Amino acid sequence: MNYRAVCFLAAALLMAAAPVSSAEDAGTPFMTNVYGRDYQFLNGKWNAIVDLYDQGEKMKVYENRTPQTGEEFYEYSFEGGLRLNVPGDWNSQTPELKYYEGTVWYARHFDADPQPGQRQFLYFGAVSYRCKVYLNGEQITEHEGGFTPFEVELTGKLRSGDNFLVVQVNNRRTQDAIPALAYDWWNYGGITRDVMLVTTPEQYVRDYFVRLDGNDAGSVKVSLELARPQAADVTVDIPELKVSKTVRTDEDGRAEFGVKVKGLELWEPGKAKLYDVTVSCGDDSVSDRIGFRYLETEGTGILVNGKRTFMRSISFHEEIPQRKGRAFSQADAQMLLSEAEALGVNMIRLAHYPQNEYIVRLAEQMGIILWQEIPIWQGIDFEDKGTESKALGMLEEMIFRDRNRCAVCFWGVANETKPSDARNAFLLSLLEKGRSMDDTRLYVAAFDLVYFNEETRHFEMDDPFTENLDVVAVNKYMGWYHPWPVPPSEAVWDVVPDKPLIISEFGGEALYGQHGDRNMASSWSEEYQARLYEDNIEMFRHIPNLAGVSPWILFDFRSPYRFHPTNQEDWNRKGLVSDQGYRKAAWYIMRDYYEEIKNSDK
Ligand code: GCU
Repeated sequence: MNYRAVCFLAAALLMAAAPVSSAEDAGTPFMTNVYGRDYQFLNGKWNAIVDLYDQGEKMKVYENRTPQTGEEFYEYSFEGGLRLNVPGDWNSQTPELKYYEGTVWYARHFDADPQPGQRQFLYFGAVSYRCKVYLNGEQITEHEGGFTPFEVELTGKLRSGDNFLVVQVNNRRTQDAIPALAYDWWNYGGITRDVMLVTTPEQYVRDYFVRLDGNDAGSVKVSLELARPQAADVTVDIPELKVSKTVRTDEDGRAEFGVKVKGLELWEPGKAKLYDVTVSCGDDSVSDRIGFRYLETEGTGILVNGKRTFMRSISFHEEIPQRKGRAFSQADAQMLLSEAEALGVNMIRLAHYPQNEYIVRLAEQMGIILWQEIPIWQGIDFEDKGTESKALGMLEEMIFRDRNRCAVCFWGVANETKPSDARNAFLLSLLEKGRSMDDTRLYVAAFDLVYFNEETRHFEMDDPFTENLDVVAVNKYMGWYHPWPVPPSEAVWDVVPDKPLIISEFGGEALYGQHGDRNMASSWSEEYQARLYEDNIEMFRHIPNLAGVSPWILFDFRSPYRFHPTNQEDWNRKGLVSDQGYRKAAWYIMRDYYEEIKNSDK
């Protein structure tokens, strides 16, 4: 074989082996709807090494070396030590890791059988908070952000047979992180959601966005993008609507088009109509269940499919209190959502970060509206450009993952931020990014700036930033952090009077089973909490532009903020349901209030 041929062959082999980054695949952070594709889970028991002083990278533990000579030794091994469930936070798996903040190395072997003409990707539902991923001793990607997915292409790197995967996970809090140094929930660390090995054809449908074209129930709009820039035929099938439309993408692999439909049944709260949708191109086909609805505001009202709808909401963290751990599974989603449904809600504010896809998809199947937000929570460093780009990335990943999920009606960009030029610029960049990706949803932020004006004797708020939002939300703890300046029935609110206003948090703490004086906050009693709910509900009746309420919170949840040795013990006790799953007296008051609203809404 001559020299030239050898060079050519070497180049060809290099090309074949060269990492085919998924960055070549369009400008999208990961493929849409991974659960609708050809995947295998890499869930289960993984080996782990706790690396509190971050020595593992220097030791190259990801090479997983074992002694080969009489002189060699290694001060690590992934075999025979700690094993952790994936998905799952590490805090709830061993007592020693309850408060752990640092690095844990995860590792596992897996078999692969890569076929020519196919591509392989590794997909993580979420890793909290930052991570580096290594395959067979080589770093292949890294990610920051504990609540959104990421993927990396493995094509050309996978061995036939055994492969060794290592993930360095670190959950240390930092000022430039999102959320930052302190926040009122548990700092769970770990590979906290599903891990999947995804196989696709060489060319595949990487992204699609299927929704109504504006407010027209007779027209469906489709935007799609192929992995490779190529003009190719793509077919969208919605059998129940007798839609089967084939279009040719442009040279960049993109297409956007409308499809006229007849007899489309809209998705709405309590009536979760979903359609089977398949998008295919050549050998690739991806299936989804998609609902169609439209949203708008009209004066102080929020309209779903043109109907003014009061948001009977509740919040919960992505946590199973009985397990003292982060929620991650279908069963967890069923537990959280069935308790929310029992309260009589038509909306859930998923606090304070994008939650796992099982929760989002089950809410959609149950006909429950969702508010999803990125964790721009209180003390974010709005001056830090690096933090801003992280926030933009998280927002993009959240919208990109769920924009086909019709249950998601609100994108939240902040919680309890203080007015400043830097904050305004930071949040404006988020709103611009969001609206450029998805102009079909309402943008909201929650503020804790409402005060009682002694002159006017009104509740007021001065934050001009609210003009940029479709809906304004207020967290206000009357009767808990704030004593009543006037009786609830005399409370006059003059807060963004021309916009829809949601009370996105209110409530107070009670230890389940503890009884005491209904007039004493420090009784931490069910009676006090119940009276607080009665008073707030009375106040709500006098807020003219009230478009929804969302008590804080459905379940007691874990937080290092909460020091009281007998009433809290590292739990925030504002739950309507205890950490053991028992409903407190206030739960029944809220359930009756929602029953009353639901009946009056008819
Ligand atoms: C804040 C914050 C919540 C927090 C709550 C509380 O409004 O948004 O995340 O848990 O108050 O103090 O319980």
